[in-house]
Amino acid sequence: MGPTPSQGGLDQILAYRGGDRLLAFLQAFLQAFLQALLLFRDDSMTTFPVFLYSFPKELEEVVVALLGASGVLGLQHLEAPSPEIGLIEAYFPEGESPTFPLPPTVKLVHRRSVVDQDWLESYRRQAQPLNIGDRFRIDPREPEPPGEASGPPPNGRFLIHVPARQAFGTGSHESTRLALELLERSQVSGKRVLDVGAGSGILSFAALALGASRVVGFDIDLPSAFLARQYCRLNAWAPDYFAGDLKALAVGPHFDLALVNILPERILDQIPLLEACLAERCEVILSGILESRGEEVLSAYAPLGFEIQEQRQEGDWVAFRCRR
Ligand SMILES: C[S@@+](CC[C@H](N)C(=O)[O-])C[C@H]1O[C@@H](n2cnc3c(N)ncnc32)[C@H](O)[C@@H]1O
Repeated sequence: MGPTPSQGGLDQILAYRGGDRLLAFLQAFLQAFLQALLLFRDDSMTTFPVFLYSFPKELEEVVVALLGASGVLGLQHLEAPSPEIGLIEAYFPEGESPTFPLPPTVKLVHRRSVVDQDWLESYRRQAQPLNIGDRFRIDPREPEPPGEASGPPPNGRFLIHVPARQAFGTGSHESTRLALELLERSQVSGKRVLDVGAGSGILSFAALALGASRVVGFDIDLPSAFLARQYCRLNAWAPDYFAGDLKALAVGPHFDLALVNILPERILDQIPLLEACLAERCEVILSGILESRGEEVLSAYAPLGFEIQEQRQEGDWVAFRCRR
C-alpha cells in the first residue's frame, strides 16, 4: 500500500473526506459490482459495424459532430492520401448505423464489422519501453517477477514502471509525453508539486525523480487511484495520492508547480479552486489540449498572472509551461 493521506502531514493540507475506510468500502463495492457484471454478462460475440468515410478536410468538425449526434461509439482518424482529405472510421453499436444524413460530399468508402475483444489486452501485449524527453524511460510491461523494484536508471534516464493496465498514463499518448518533456525543463528540485488528474501517477513519479520535495496527486477516477497506489510499489518514488477532486484540497498557497494534463472542458471551470492552492510565484504545466483550444486555455490562465514560458506540440496536441 502506498502512503495513506493521514501520513506525512498530508492531513495538514488536504481536507480529506473519509480516509482509508471510505476507500476500502468503495473498493469492496467496485469488486462486488464487477463480479455482478461477470455473473450477468452475455457471452455471445458482439460485432460492431464500422463505417469508413472520406470528406473534404474543412468538413471534419461537421462530420465529427453529425456522427456524434448519431450515437457513434468511437471515432478513429486515419491518415489520408492528401492533406485536403479527411478520413474517419466510425464505430457504431451492434445493429446500428448513422441516423443523421451526412453532407453529399461525405463519401462512405466501405463498411466492415469488427468482433468485440479485450482491446486493452492486445495493446498490453505490444507495449514496449519508450524513452521520453532526455530524462525518462517508461516501462509499460508487467514486472517480472511481479513486484520487482525499478533497476538502475538506463543511460542517465529515470526508469518509471507504469504497467499498461489501463488505457491512459503509460506515455503512449501525446499529451503525457508533452507534459513530461516540459516537466524536465522546469525547476522541479525542492518544489512542492500538485498533479491534477494524475491517472497512473506517471507525472507524479517523474516529478519526484527530478527532486520535488513533495508531490500530491489525485484523480476523480477511483480505479486510477487504486492502480497508482499499486504502481508506487514498483517505483522508487511514492507520491501522496488520493481519489477525489480539487475541492478536497484545503485552501492555501501550498504548491510551487501544478501539472494539469486534462481536457480543458473538464478542468477550466475549476481554475479558481486550483488558484487557491498555488503559491504566489509558481509554474503550471498545461497539457491535454487540442491545438484549436490552446488560445482559450491560455486566456483562462492569463488573468491569474500566468505568462507562457514554453510551448510544445505533437500532432494536434499542444502543451504549455507558464509562470507567474
Ligand atoms: C489525460 S489523463 C492524464 C493522466 C496522467 N496525468 C498522464 O499525464 O498520463 C486525465 C486524467 O484526469 C482525470 N480527471 C479529469 N477531470 C478531472 C478533474 N476535474 N479532477 C481530477 N481529475 C480529473 C481523468 O480521470 C484522467 O485520469
